[in-house]
Amino acid sequence: MNVSIPASAVGTDWLAEIQPAMRDAPPSGIVEVFNYGRGRQGLIPLWVGEGDRPTPPFIVEAAKASLDRGETFYADQRGAPELREAIARYMTRVYGAKPGGGAFAPDRFFVTIGGMHALEIAAKLTVAAGEEALIPSPAWPNFAGAIRLAGAKPTFVPLERDEARWRLDPERLAAAVTPATRVIFVNSPANPTGFVATREELAAALAIARRHNLWIVADEIYGRLTFSGARAPSFHDVMAPDDKILFVQTLSKNWAMTGWRLGWLEAPPALSPVIENIVQFTTSGVPVFGQRAAAAALDEGEPFVADQVARMRAARDIVCDGLAATGRVRFARPEATFYLFCAVDGEPDSRALALRLVDEAGVGVAPGAAFGLGGEGYLRLCFGRAPDEIAEATRRLTNWLER
Ligand SMILES: Cc1ncc(COP(=O)(O)O)c(C=O)c1O
Repeated sequence: MNVSIPASAVGTDWLAEIQPAMRDAPPSGIVEVFNYGRGRQGLIPLWVGEGDRPTPPFIVEAAKASLDRGETFYADQRGAPELREAIARYMTRVYGAKPGGGAFAPDRFFVTIGGMHALEIAAKLTVAAGEEALIPSPAWPNFAGAIRLAGAKPTFVPLERDEARWRLDPERLAAAVTPATRVIFVNSPANPTGFVATREELAAALAIARRHNLWIVADEIYGRLTFSGARAPSFHDVMAPDDKILFVQTLSKNWAMTGWRLGWLEAPPALSPVIENIVQFTTSGVPVFGQRAAAAALDEGEPFVADQVARMRAARDIVCDGLAATGRVRFARPEATFYLFCAVDGEPDSRALALRLVDEAGVGVAPGAAFGLGGEGYLRLCFGRAPDEIAEATRRLTNWLER
């Protein structure tokens, strides 16, 4: 049967008919440059936050075996028990070995559709219409996006940069708290700046949260992609059991699994029925075969993570040394993440520069303006690719800069 759309619907102003909070959420500024350069022959893509490697076979095989076993039914809304146990084992191994540390219980972990879904749940749990969330900035635009979709208002607190590192000034953070503030989103190590909060900075942020009875949403997804030590400082190092902290995590980056959409939210177990409900009413769970793959990644993936970090360190050194040698590029050398956030002398308009680099250098980068307050004037380059390819991208950029 043919269904015809009545003529009266054709002239409808559909955008006027939907919820303003959804309609008015600004688009990601990375996507504009990406769409402009998509499909260009020979372009080296450094704009998106993902590596060039497919997921390693030992992870893929676990998913295949699950499908072959017929694990094609609805999953436990909190996550498969085996994966929650694997997460607890992983967290205990990586974050439990500290003074006062110990074993993590599986019931703290809720499996989500990527880190983004964990972030969405965290925003829903902590802010609502008329309330505010603090975000150190420049920041990954999805923090503000998730807050706006929850109907709330993001308030940006500028990070500061010197030659050595980005830093978070606790006084600025404290000064941004208002009676409407409910939560501080702390992303460390951070996208796009590579900011790595010291233990002292984390403790200072926590002290502010305690003083004003705020939540902290701790996005520590880049905690393992660090070039000094096995992991970056974490709120786990400074928190007490009754601190109001939700942790966002993902399988995406460490184990080359961006397309699998697997992550987790770490939260007080008492929130389990609520989180289960939100999962039920949004995604209704995470595919079981993916969860089997995630468990394999966590249990057997340490050599792969070590190799990822070694490769990224080599790539970081190539791009940082190459661009620094031009004398025209300013940045704090990232000690973690796979992002270089750099400013080019004489090029204040990051969107225009990113579009020109597509055409004139054959390199795709993300404009700093996409990362909000403090981002304009910078470019974000993702160096999570083969060092040879990063060397070629660096050659193209330095040639362009030295023309
Ligand atoms: C800081 C940060 N948090 C969370 C995510 C979410 O990752 P995913 O949804 O792919 O798991 C990203 C992805 O780029 C990110 O940069």
